[in-house]
Amino acid sequence: MEDLVSKIIVANWKMNGSGEFIHSFFSTFTNSTDNRLIICPPYPYLSQVKSHGVTVGAQDCSQHTSGAFTGDIAASMLHDMGCSYVILGHSERRQYHAESNALIREKAHAALDAGLTPIICVGESRAIRESGNHIETVLNQAKESIPSGTGKFMLAYEPIWAIGTGLTASESDIAEMHTALRHLLPTTPLLYGGSVNKENAKTIMSTPDVDGVLVGGASLKPDDLMAILDFKTPLGNR
Ligand code: 13P
Repeated sequence: MEDLVSKIIVANWKMNGSGEFIHSFFSTFTNSTDNRLIICPPYPYLSQVKSHGVTVGAQDCSQHTSGAFTGDIAASMLHDMGCSYVILGHSERRQYHAESNALIREKAHAALDAGLTPIICVGESRAIRESGNHIETVLNQAKESIPSGTGKFMLAYEPIWAIGTGLTASESDIAEMHTALRHLLPTTPLLYGGSVNKENAKTIMSTPDVDGVLVGGASLKPDDLMAILDFKTPLGNR
């Protein structure tokens, strides 16, 4: 028996925010030190967000440790900045930066070597879901993207068709996928992401084998993020 106090809430701010936005966000947001929360702002704002006492993560890192890779950021640099986590293989990186499962695995190893916990994202397109191959596709993505060895990581299932669309996967869709992922990864925290909001978060977090949520748009609204965190009903699933 585990209760919702231990559910993990990861806020992915994507490429949003400004110094002023963060100042105003934390004038309303009062859950900064909640140990279930990880906020992942754009790189330049990691320190500013962390200064409010929040556990922070980055949204990507390089697979390399250092060198001539203009514009890239090494995992060790993120660790230096006080980051504890890094999102890897988000569908927006897979789509706009052609990131492959093999590259994401390399990045996961780089993150682990630097002392960061990777949050590795997987998820199917609408076409794959309609073809009925979603389980096989996502399991393959997961198998090929996760680090080999014993390093600890989290896995986030984010169906691409549910991201930023207001369409959430149904409880049974989520349960089906998370059950399959649980067979593959019995002890890995499994998050769901895709149009999570303050109305649906409770149902989603009550779904079997959902250990937490990865929240995009709603996490930019302090009241909504507090509502998602304000959620402590005991549960009988993991
Ligand atoms: P939305 O919550 O805005 O759909 O974004 C989900 C997501 O991509 C989180 O990583």
